[in-house]
Amino acid sequence: MKSLPKVELHTHLEGAAPPAFIRGLAQEKGMDISGVFAPDGGYAFKDFWHFLKVYEAATSTLTTPEDYHRLTLAVLEESAAHGVIYTESFMSPDFCGGRDLSAWREYLHAIQEAAAQAEAQMGIILRAVVTCVRHFGPEKARETALCAAETAGDFITGFGMGGDEQSGKQGDFAWAFDCAREAGLRLTTHAGEWGGPQSIRDALDDLRVERIGHGVRAIEDDALVDHLAEREIVLEVCPGSNIALGLYPDWQDHPIERLRERGVKVTISTDDPPFFHTTMTREYDRLADAFGWNEDSFRDFNIVAAHAAFCDTETRARVL
Ligand code: ADE
Ligand code: ZN
Repeated sequence: MKSLPKVELHTHLEGAAPPAFIRGLAQEKGMDISGVFAPDGGYAFKDFWHFLKVYEAATSTLTTPEDYHRLTLAVLEESAAHGVIYTESFMSPDFCGGRDLSAWREYLHAIQEAAAQAEAQMGIILRAVVTCVRHFGPEKARETALCAAETAGDFITGFGMGGDEQSGKQGDFAWAFDCAREAGLRLTTHAGEWGGPQSIRDALDDLRVERIGHGVRAIEDDALVDHLAEREIVLEVCPGSNIALGLYPDWQDHPIERLRERGVKVTISTDDPPFFHTTMTREYDRLADAFGWNEDSFRDFNIVAAHAAFCDTETRARVL
């Protein structure tokens, strides 16, 4: 499974930071973030809401464009080692210069330089989905969307939203999504992870997104499953993340197979791999064990993902 070429649509750049990398940065800067780590050296959290706090504490060590340059290289090196040939990563102006456009441009420049280096050395292609953070509220999302709109292009190809799905409503963020759409960005949002089926309906109706981050709780609503299948809405499913965060007790209980059987376009991603002790190889191995999927099944998933990728046709042709 490790060497099988993989297309990944849903990771968070800071969430993919190896814990040793974050610990090293904290030491260099004399920052005490010891509460972030478990005794085994990994990240420690007790539930999703605690995870968001630990994520933000770990991210507080990333304070310069140079830090993001190093982070991007470390993350892409790890992904490439697991056969990932194309990856889309959520990036937040909230964490990169505090939504200030000129600072955001500097962070972006550093990230893009690292991406070009990784592509030349390892062949892995990175595209960026600028993301607002739902629990930071609609006003910050508006500033984030303006940063995204100003820098939209070949590298920044999408706009999305992560964070606490139970904070506010999807529709509160419509201005930000409209702004991003008008700038030519493709749209996705986290929905149907901690929110139920209605959060997916709201994402489609109020934000008019074309993909859904997670979306797995659609399984609780038959009519919605049919709607997703008919409209060919692609789900960025992250099974290991859902299991690590306690959304489903085990791999066999995960709805990805039932959604696929009912004709929903599902793809496979890691979300925040070191937080959830996962990699793309591990996702494939566990799914193969749980559902009897083989290399041909995974090739099909990768074709779906490549077609749903927020990239231009030339890039897609290199991935397919
Ligand atoms: N940010 C990072 N990982 C996330 C997740 N799984 N859900 C929502 N926001 C996130
Ligand atoms: Zn996510």
